[in-house]
Amino acid sequence: MSWQEIPKLELHLHLEGAAPPAFIRGLAQEKSVNLSGVFDAQGNYAYRDFAHFLQVYEAATSVLRSPEDYARLLTEVLAQQAEDGVIYTEHFLSPDFCGRRDLSAWREYLAAMQEVAGQAEAQHGIILRGVVTCIRHFGPDAARETALCAAETAGDFVVGFGMGGDETRGRQGDFAWGFDCAREAGLGLTTHAGEFGGADSVRQALDDLRVDRIGHGVRAIEDPALVERLAASGTVLEVCPGSNLGLGLYPQMRAHPIERLRAAGVPVTVSTDDPPFFRTTMTREYEALERAFDWGEGQFHALAQTALAAAFCDDETRKALAKRLTPDG
Ligand code: ADE
Ligand code: ZN
Repeated sequence: MSWQEIPKLELHLHLEGAAPPAFIRGLAQEKSVNLSGVFDAQGNYAYRDFAHFLQVYEAATSVLRSPEDYARLLTEVLAQQAEDGVIYTEHFLSPDFCGRRDLSAWREYLAAMQEVAGQAEAQHGIILRGVVTCIRHFGPDAARETALCAAETAGDFVVGFGMGGDETRGRQGDFAWGFDCAREAGLGLTTHAGEFGGADSVRQALDDLRVDRIGHGVRAIEDPALVERLAASGTVLEVCPGSNLGLGLYPQMRAHPIERLRAAGVPVTVSTDDPPFFRTTMTREYEALERAFDWGEGQFHALAQTALAAAFCDDETRKALAKRLTPDG
């Protein structure tokens, strides 16, 4: 069976990381930017390890220079997600790349993206919400400015605040000011933890940032007490299996902990993270999970219900989405 049509919710996707290589090459050509080292001989993104992945990601992103560039990118990304059956998605949006954390520039980027979101919803039925994301290796001071951009633009479209970037740098708690600021603005909170940091990084995220969801979180599996805590608190993990394989966390899908986490009662969802970097799509994620763990309609329906409950959107949107997840919705 192809899992393309089954309705999906995708909570963890970095907009720049979803840029198809051909799109980035096209912009580079238009702007005469030299992107040597970013692509392999086949034209795919090329990286050796996580640190290099972050460098290549930032080099590719350097060609995105205006609200219009982001509008073009978002149009392509939402069309692709809709093609894969995604009916609701949250994108990690970065004021660091969209106007260098200047609030009035950020508002212009946001307006361009919101316009595209409205068009995509009308055309494909896909609903987009934004999670403003700071970048850990840019440091706590930059994260404060990013949090202020998030707080100032919180509303129907900007619904969350998060942190990506190099988890091996500093501690989660170094960024508490930004997360407190975003919480006060009513935003949902998530941070990358338990990807390149171990179980302790997940504990820090819970204790020091008091997040609602965890990006990845899979290395919690290394600590049984933490797995129990996640299950008891109902903390939702935004699991990105193809990303974890692409970045070398696990050698193959069968070794991935998503099934053990699910079986232990931890609420899990599935996303693609940066799909072209890992040659994945939501459809491919579902197909791989079926092959590795024999997951079928029951598990995929549960994933969608978990994501629906954990989405940072308002309850009116949640209700409308719930209807679309019922068989005759
Ligand atoms: N930014 C984009 N993809 C990321 C990942 N997998 N981990 C941390 N930061 C990221
Ligand atoms: Zn991510």
